[in-house]
Amino acid sequence: MTMSIFGRVSIAAGLATAALTVSAAAQAQNLVLYCTVQEEWCRVMVTGFERETGIKVAMTRKSSGEFYAQLKAEASNPRGDVWWGGTGDPHLQAAEEGLTQEYESPMNKELQDWAIRQWNDSKKKTIGVYAGALGYSYNTEFMKKKGGAEPKCWSDLLDARFKDEVQVADPNASGTSYTMLATMVQLMGEDKGFDYLKRMHKNVNQYTKSGAAPAKAASLGESLIGITFQHDAVVMAVQGAPVKIVSPCEGTGYEIGSMSLVKGARNPESAKKWYDWALSKNAQSLGPDAKVSYQVPSNKGAATPPGAPNLAEIKLINYDFAKYGSSAERRRLLSKWDNEVKNLPK
Ligand code: F6P
Repeated sequence: MTMSIFGRVSIAAGLATAALTVSAAAQAQNLVLYCTVQEEWCRVMVTGFERETGIKVAMTRKSSGEFYAQLKAEASNPRGDVWWGGTGDPHLQAAEEGLTQEYESPMNKELQDWAIRQWNDSKKKTIGVYAGALGYSYNTEFMKKKGGAEPKCWSDLLDARFKDEVQVADPNASGTSYTMLATMVQLMGEDKGFDYLKRMHKNVNQYTKSGAAPAKAASLGESLIGITFQHDAVVMAVQGAPVKIVSPCEGTGYEIGSMSLVKGARNPESAKKWYDWALSKNAQSLGPDAKVSYQVPSNKGAATPPGAPNLAEIKLINYDFAKYGSSAERRRLLSKWDNEVKNLPK
């Protein structure tokens, strides 16, 4: 043991200090990641980060609304360090409710304006990591067998011939589905939007937990049509599934997939390392390189993967993230959906 500038230290105190240092170092080598993209992309990111930093990651994948609820439940004893991915609205709600931590990354200067807007709107508590548009996909083989015109619009999903043929997630659990709910309200006005969702309910075969699951169901023919972000259906198409992706004719909503640091996290330094790394060009190229992500990356240097839906060509609504990501509005719309849509008889 070396002498400190404070003079002689006892062996016992020295040992205690050493033990503390070791356990602090051990802790700094861990990260608890809450991941809200599809499992395959989560795993690719975890492997890339562990390889680059040596920090061991414990990862769980859940949907956006589920992790929002978990952060709230764990607020007095946080378990997660960083929440990466998932739609922006619940990240904004978590920010407003003080569940997440403000942070300014040195990587901010490399990011698209829409990613920084999210950060500004949340008072530096959440940031954009990717963007993507909502839509739906259908199984072309089963659609041919069904006959009739191919759907092109949101309104086509109300057709009686699609009874029990449409799948979408539950907006309480899934950020994708909450984006759909908020999109209908913005596109049609609240009354007409809810009327649309009630009529569509008759054609819904299942409200899933995960937002991307309906794209897989459509690819397998388990559901004729799946409402998801379009990039999730691209994953299926690239794998050779017989699916067609639709950008609804009326226009559609979109997400700014986000990332937040958990307030009171146990491994704040590792969490910041993940945060900075996940905003880098290299990290944002891992998903596209592995063909598991077709979102538009937020780092200006990261290329949008070939095959990704071109947002400039899609009729996007002017999605009001500040309003629909606010705690009061998100809670109000979800409880209205629970009361007026979810349990309607078919
Ligand atoms: O990775 C797929 C993805 O669609 C993301 O683009 C999105 O942020 C996330 O899943 C939403 O998942 P969920 O709807 O399950 O909350």
